[in-house]
Amino acid sequence: MRPHVILNAAMTLDGKIATRTGSSEISGPEDLKRVHQIRKENEAIMVGINTVMVDDPRLTVHKISSTKSDNPLRVVVDSQARTPGDARILNNDAPTIIAVSKKAPSENVENLKEKAEVIFCGEDKVDLVDLMEKLKIKGINSLMLEGGATLNFSMLKHGLVDEVRVCIAPMIVGGSKARTLVDGEGFDYMKDAVKLELKKSYVLDKDFILEYFVLNNDK
Ligand SMILES: NC(=O)c1ccc[n+]([C@@H]2O[C@H](COP(=O)([O-])OP(=O)(O)OC[C@H]3O[C@@H](n4cnc5c(N)ncnc54)[C@H](OP(=O)(O)O)[C@@H]3O)[C@@H](O)[C@H]2O)c1
Repeated sequence: MRPHVILNAAMTLDGKIATRTGSSEISGPEDLKRVHQIRKENEAIMVGINTVMVDDPRLTVHKISSTKSDNPLRVVVDSQARTPGDARILNNDAPTIIAVSKKAPSENVENLKEKAEVIFCGEDKVDLVDLMEKLKIKGINSLMLEGGATLNFSMLKHGLVDEVRVCIAPMIVGGSKARTLVDGEGFDYMKDAVKLELKKSYVLDKDFILEYFVLNNDK
């Protein structure tokens, strides 16, 4: 058993979710409202540690009408407990869980415990299947996955994503080192690709929104 997972991202027409320097201001103002609405509708929101390091996001609901109780539980996938003590994701706006592996240095873990709940999943890397089960046991039924590219691949590879929603902005940045919607090691053959079914598509101001169901997930 695990939460229902929606992967959401904004990308350029050439599939980049950030430039090679990590700059990721892609969404237009209307898309940001759409993103914050999804945050409001989900019980938890999850990112990889690199996204915390590069973007220092708050992951709260603040672009639409909301109260503090609308903020989802925040989850960081962080094997080595590297989340900085002054990261905005550790602020008091919402509770935060840092998912670490058994290899996380105990000093880092102890420091983080002052500001967040730390849960252990996996030996070297965070075991995402275990993490999803633990979140479900904690009562989390829905989760928004907000990247980045490496975590997106791992979640898809393990069949843990139910929906994919992307905003395509009318921009092209190129760069072989720029992160795309899904990176990681990738699949070797097209037959192994994650298969999707288009649910909805629409224009939102200057952006284009695509919403898919994931067909070959573990549900
Ligand atoms: N446009 C958008 O919508 C959007 C959204 C989010 C992020 N971004 C961009 O994406 C970039 C960051 O993406 P990223 O791919 O570099 O990193 P990421 O996906 O945010 O984080 C990946 C890291 O998570 C940790 N991790 C632990 N267990 C894992 C597991 N089982 N599977 C995968 N990762 C695991 C690993 O670090 P450890 O080994 O240290 O644990 C891994 O390197 C930033 O530039 C950010 O701006 C864009």
